[in-house]
Amino acid sequence: MASLTVRQLDDKLKKQLRLRAARNGRSVEDEVRTILRGAAADEDAFVPPRTEAQRGRASEADAAHILLIIGGGIAAYKSLDLIRRLRERGIAVRVVMTAAAQKFITPLSVGAITGEHPFLDLFDAHSEFDVGHIRLAREPSLIVVAPATADLMAKLAHGLADDLASAVLLATDKTILLAPAMNPNMWSNRATQRNIALLAAEHVALVGPNQGEMAESGEAGVGRMAEPLEIVAAVQARLAPDSRALAGVRMLVTSGPTHEPIDPVRYIANRSSGKQGHAIAEAAVLAGAAVTLISGPVTIPDPHGATVIKVESARDMLAAVEAALPADVAVFAAAVADWRTTTNSREKIKKSGKQAPELVLVENPDILSTVAHRKSKRPKLVIGFAAETENVVEHAKRKLARKACDWILANDVSPETGIMGGDSNTIHLVTANKVEHWPPQSKTEVASVLVSRIAAALGEQK
Ligand code: C5P
Repeated sequence: MASLTVRQLDDKLKKQLRLRAARNGRSVEDEVRTILRGAAADEDAFVPPRTEAQRGRASEADAAHILLIIGGGIAAYKSLDLIRRLRERGIAVRVVMTAAAQKFITPLSVGAITGEHPFLDLFDAHSEFDVGHIRLAREPSLIVVAPATADLMAKLAHGLADDLASAVLLATDKTILLAPAMNPNMWSNRATQRNIALLAAEHVALVGPNQGEMAESGEAGVGRMAEPLEIVAAVQARLAPDSRALAGVRMLVTSGPTHEPIDPVRYIANRSSGKQGHAIAEAAVLAGAAVTLISGPVTIPDPHGATVIKVESARDMLAAVEAALPADVAVFAAAVADWRTTTNSREKIKKSGKQAPELVLVENPDILSTVAHRKSKRPKLVIGFAAETENVVEHAKRKLARKACDWILANDVSPETGIMGGDSNTIHLVTANKVEHWPPQSKTEVASVLVSRIAAALGEQK
C-alpha cells in the first residue's frame, strides 16, 4: 500500500489540513485518516462543504494565531486559563512546552484545551517534520511566553537555542511578549535585570510581573505572573492595535510616585506602582503616538517605544513636564506627593536621644493644575486622575473645575479595593458635562479604552 507523509504535501494543503485538524480537535494524521475513510466510504464526502460558522472560525484563525511558549514555573497552571481566554476571543493558540513546563502541567491537558498536541522537543522527528521549528517561529502573528522564567529570558537575551522553545525564540521575526514569573529575588537579581535591559533594547515586550504573594508560603514581592486577562489584553493590543489612531499625536504621561527627600537616606513617598501610567504610555505608543513618559521611582520596566525621563521629586517632575511641552495630550497619572519638607539636610539627620527633629512641610507645585492653567503651550486635552476614598465622583467634579483640566479619571483607592499597587482599576470618567462609569478592568484595558477615547476626542476637535 502506498505511504504518504504529510511533510510531502504542498504548504497550502498542509495549512488547510492543520486548520481542519485544529477545528476538529484531531492530530493532522488523524484528520488525514478521517478524510481518507470518508472518501473510501463515499467519494462525495472527500471534501465536505464547510458551514458558514466553520468558514468564520477559519478566517479568525487565519487572522490571529499566536504561539504560546509555556516555561517551567508554578504559574504554568495559569497558562491553561490563558489559552481558554484567548480561544474564547477567537485567537487560535499553538503551544510549545519546555521540559520544565511539563513538570507542572501535562501536554495532555494543554492538548485538550487547544485541540492540538503541544510541541515539546526540538529533536522530535515527528513534530519537526510536521511543522518544524522555523515555521513555528514564523507563522504566528505574535509569540507569547507565559510563564517566562529567568532561564528562558537569559537564553533569549544571549541567543542560546538548546531546546525547542529557545530555538523558536531565536528564529522568530515576530514580536515576542514575555509574561515573567519568578521569585522576587530572582527577578531583582542583577543578572535578570541585565537580561531584561538587553531584551528591552531588542523590542521584546513585557506584561507584568506583578507585585504580590508568591506560591512559596510567606514570600511576597515583584515576580507574580500577570493575570491571564491582563496577558490577553496585552496580546489583543498587539494583534490588532489601531496603529494609526494616535499617529502624529505628541503625548505626555506622568507616572509613579515622587520621592521627597528629608536627608540623603530618607524620603517621603507613597504606594503608587506606576502601573496605570506606564500602561497608558504603552497603549499610546501602540496607537502610534510619540510618547514622553515622565516617571517617578518605580520598580516596573519602562514601556517600549516611549521616551522615558526619570525623576525623583515633584519639583523635578514639573521641570521635566514643562521641558517636554508642547504636547497635544497630557495625562497626569503620577501620584505626586502633596508636600515636601522645607529642609533637605545635606547630612544624615542623627538621633540626639532627646527631642525628635521637627519636619516642616510645604506644599508641592500642582503639576496638572500648572499645565492646565497655562496660557501658552497648553495641550489640547489635559487629563488628570483623582484617587479618592469617599464621594469619589463629587470630589472628582470639584477637582476638574479647580484644576482646569478637561477630563478626570476618578477611582476609589480605599485599601479594600486593592487598586493602589494592584492590577485592576474601576474608573469613573468625569468631563465638563458627563460622568461615565467604566466596569472593573485591568489597568492595561483601562489604558486602551482611554487611548481610544482620546483618539475619538481629538478626531471631534478637528
Ligand atoms: O489633588 P490630587 O492629588 O488628588 O490630584 C490628582 C491629580 O493631580 C492626578 O492627576 C495627579 O497626577 C495630579 N497632581 C499633580 N501634581 C500634584 C498633585 C497632583 O500633577 N502636586
